Amino acid sequence: MKLLIIGDIYGDPGIEILDFHLKELKNELKPHLIIANAENSSNGRGISKRIYNHLLGLGINIFTMGNHVWGNREIKDFIEDSNILRPANFNNLPGNGYIVKNVNGLKVLVINILGRAFINLSLDNPFKCVNDIIENVDHDFSILDIHAEATSEKIAMGHFFDGKIDIIFGTHTHVQTNDARLMPKGSFYLTDVGMTGPLDGVIGVEKEIVINRFLNGFSTHNKVSKGRKQLNAWFIDTELQYSKLIHLEKE
Ligand code: FE2
Repeated sequence: MKLLIIGDIYGDPGIEILDFHLKELKNELKPHLIIANAENSSNGRGISKRIYNHLLGLGINIFTMGNHVWGNREIKDFIEDSNILRPANFNNLPGNGYIVKNVNGLKVLVINILGRAFINLSLDNPFKCVNDIIENVDHDFSILDIHAEATSEKIAMGHFFDGKIDIIFGTHTHVQTNDARLMPKGSFYLTDVGMTGPLDGVIGVEKEIVINRFLNGFSTHNKVSKGRKQLNAWFIDTELQYSKLIHLEKE
């Protein structure tokens, strides 16, 4: 199985660099499945129907989300009939926290979960929630997006599910980590795939806005940073037991 995982798509700059590079990546890597985190694709917050259709048209198959899943209210009208996952520990809210797709003859289970540390301590326990899903949902192959702030929470979850989930990756921090590895019991693991969006802002936002907030304690609303763009992704070939980090830039 070959998979391409695209890190958090942030606003129009993220979509623009995918328009530019995704076709050549698909030709070069020939993935069976492309997954992207898209919770910041609509101007930094949430996803719209128009953007969802555009990204599907580029060849992305499944979309994971996170704490900003409801950032664009349009999603409530189409999430039920989409390939968009919201965190599985957002219990009783619209949409699904996991999906099973037939890929390359296998029942592939994809799960999206939200970490608690520094995000929301009152959420359902992400370890237990994911464990319930993998024990109760029929599948041949499994993939988990841990949308979380703390590297410790992600690494702990990586070890907890080592050997039980085939591909475990993190999103949310918008900074790619250089720790892609095959875990002792055989799972592929990466703490954070990074961001597909502006290169020169502060995790996607115009840098002056964020610097002012740190300096003065207040600032204007976030705006998507302009200028150079970056694409961060992770490619995995499970047969060859090989993975590589991808980082591309564009003016
Ligand atoms: Fe997030």
